Amino acid sequence: MMIDLSDKVALVTGGARGIGRGICLVLAEQGADVAVADLNVDGAEAVCREIEDMGRKAHAVSMDVTSRPSIEKAVSEVLDGLGRIDILVNNAGVVGAGAWWERDRPSDEDWHLTHMVNVRGVVMVTEAVQDHMIARGSGRVVNIASIAARRGTPDIPHYSTTKAAVVSWTQSSAHQLAPHDITVNAICPGLLWTDMWQAISRRRSAVTGENISGRELFERAVENMTPMKREQTPEDIGKLAAFLASDDARNITGQAINVDGGIRMN
Ligand SMILES: NC(=O)c1ccc[n+]([C@@H]2O[C@H](COP(=O)([O-])OP(=O)(O)OC[C@H]3O[C@@H](n4cnc5c(N)ncnc54)[C@H](O)[C@@H]3O)[C@@H](O)[C@H]2O)c1
Repeated sequence: MMIDLSDKVALVTGGARGIGRGICLVLAEQGADVAVADLNVDGAEAVCREIEDMGRKAHAVSMDVTSRPSIEKAVSEVLDGLGRIDILVNNAGVVGAGAWWERDRPSDEDWHLTHMVNVRGVVMVTEAVQDHMIARGSGRVVNIASIAARRGTPDIPHYSTTKAAVVSWTQSSAHQLAPHDITVNAICPGLLWTDMWQAISRRRSAVTGENISGRELFERAVENMTPMKREQTPEDIGKLAAFLASDDARNITGQAINVDGGIRMN
């Protein structure tokens, strides 16, 4: 089986770096044209240049997933630029408001922003794209949740709460869109050394008070938590997103699949 996304157009939120960038590049490798949406437009443009170097079309667009007007403007710009959206990947996510890692306990702002980006962002971007997919009678939605959805976490409870909500929303949305031949699935990544995990490390090393680098702390987490004893990469997440976005996955919907080296086996 070969994953073939040629002639498909994907929209990836939070595509300017980290996991989102990895997803964009794997989708393009499999033949898709890709719209890269992010608050960070310079980063999105840099990823677009990488996609164009692969011979695919790319379109960088400014989008704040917490703002419905920003989302609607961006979606209509992508439809004008690339013609349609076959695949939506809701990847943008945060762990808190500015310098959240310096706080002992999440503030109201941390709870609010995390909910707005991770939950409302996923819902509002889906709502902005789904009518277009419904009209065409096909589509693929992939939501990036987290293994933090699978079990509570003592230090980032607000984040775990939002990711559990993404899994629940994925199931509701899958029910709503199934009659239109649109699948909706979630991926739960494990441990990836992106900017996000670097901030989590800052928080955890401050709490333990140990003289240990963020990277060492991350490697310790990988060693202690992961049966497969290796970290995950953005490409690992991109490969599952590409499969879920393909015609071969037409009978998979409402699922949340861990890509975590076995950290959570549910
Ligand atoms: N890194 C991990 O170990 C890990 C594990 C599980 C799940 N995840 C999830 O994967 C996704 C990507 O995480 P990452 O590690 O690449 O994070 P990251 O912080 O490196 O990248 C997040 C991207 O989202 C963008 N973004 C943030 N707020 C936005 C907004 N309001 N509108 C549009 N874009 C916005 C940022 O500009 C950035 O480009 C997130 O949903 C995260 O929760 C990450």
